[in-house]
Amino acid sequence: MSKRTLSIAAIPGDGIGPEVIDAGMEVLKAVAKRDGGFQIKSERFDWGSDRYLKKGDFLPDNALDTLRAFDAIFFGSAGDPRIPDHVTLWGLRLKICQSLDQYANVRPARLLPGIKGPLRDVTAKQLDWVIVRENSEGEYAGAGGRVHQGLPEEVGLDISVFTRNGVERIQRFAFELAKSRPRKKLTLVTKSNAQRHGMVFWDSVFERVKADYPDVETDKMLVDAMTTRMVLQPESIDTVVATNLHADVLSDLAAALTGSLGIAPTGNIRPEGDAPSMFEPIHGSAFDIMGKGIANPLGAFWSGAMLLENQGELAAAARLMQAIERVTGEGKHLPRDLGGKAGTKEVTDAVLEAIRTAND
Ligand code: IPM
Ligand code: MG
Repeated sequence: MSKRTLSIAAIPGDGIGPEVIDAGMEVLKAVAKRDGGFQIKSERFDWGSDRYLKKGDFLPDNALDTLRAFDAIFFGSAGDPRIPDHVTLWGLRLKICQSLDQYANVRPARLLPGIKGPLRDVTAKQLDWVIVRENSEGEYAGAGGRVHQGLPEEVGLDISVFTRNGVERIQRFAFELAKSRPRKKLTLVTKSNAQRHGMVFWDSVFERVKADYPDVETDKMLVDAMTTRMVLQPESIDTVVATNLHADVLSDLAAALTGSLGIAPTGNIRPEGDAPSMFEPIHGSAFDIMGKGIANPLGAFWSGAMLLENQGELAAAARLMQAIERVTGEGKHLPRDLGGKAGTKEVTDAVLEAIRTAND
C-alpha cells in the first residue's frame, strides 16, 4: 500500500518564526518517519514583513488558492518593528484565518511535566484547559472607522460584530470538544452585565445550544471574574468558550500560568475540512531574540502535534507530545524561558532523540 502524503504549507513569517518553524518541520518529518504510516511533503513560503517592505504586500494575489491545495498550514509569527502591528496582522495572519474561515481557534493550556508554573501547589492534573476562541468576527471583525482625523473632534470606532451563525457554530464546536474530554465541562465567558447587546446575545444562544448537549456540564463567567478563577481555582476549569478578544486575553494568562508563552500552541481550525487549518505557536515574533538561536521551539512542536491530530495522525501526534514531555520532564535541555540554558538546536535535538529512542 502506498503511504499517505500529508502536505504542509510552512509560512515561517517574521522574527523568530523561521527558527521555530524550521525546527518544527524537522521534528514533524522525524515523527512521520518513526511511525511510518505517512510521509510529509512541505513547501516553504517566504511571506511576511520582508516581502511587504520590498513588494508592498505580505501575500501574493494567488496565496489563498495556493494554500487551499495543502492539507494544513504551519505558521510561525507575524510582526515587525518597522511596520505598524495592525498592518501586519490584517495583511497576513488575519487575512489567512478570515479568508479560509478558520473560525475555531483552539488553545490548550496544560502544565507539562517538569515545568513549574507561577501558581504554588498546582499540579498538572489541576491545570488542563482548552480555550476555544471565536476566530472570525466579534471584536476582530474590522468594522469601524476614524472620523475627523487629526481634528480635535476626532472619533475612533471599533464595532464588534456577532452573528447568529458565527456565535452558534463556535459554541457548538466548543460543546463537541468539551464532550470529547474526560470531564465534559464547558464554561461560557462573556461580559453581559456591561455589554448588553452582543454579549447578552452570546448568553442567549448558549442557552439554546446547551439543550443539545445534556451530557456536558456548563457554567457561565464574566471575563473579569474568570481571570481570578483561573488563578485561584484552576482545577475548576476544563473547556472554555469566549469571544475573539476575551479569549485572546485569557489565553495569554493561561500560557503564563503554564510556565511560559514560549510553549503555548494554537490551531486555527476549519472544522468542515473544506479548507486547511493553520497551526502556530502563540508567542509572536520576539524580534529582541531573533537570530540568536535561543528561541523556544516547544510551542511550535506542540502546534505541530495539534496539526497531526487534526489530520488524523493520532499515533504520531501522541508520540510527538510524549517526546516533548520527556524533554521537559527530564529538564536537561530546557530553553531559557523555562529556566534552562538550552538553545533552539539543543531543544530540537533532544526532542528528535526522544522520538528516535521511544520504545513503544
Ligand atoms: C494571538 C496574538 C494576536 C491576536 C496578535 C499578534 C494580534 O496575540 O494570536 O493571540 O491578538 O490575535
Ligand atoms: Mg494574543
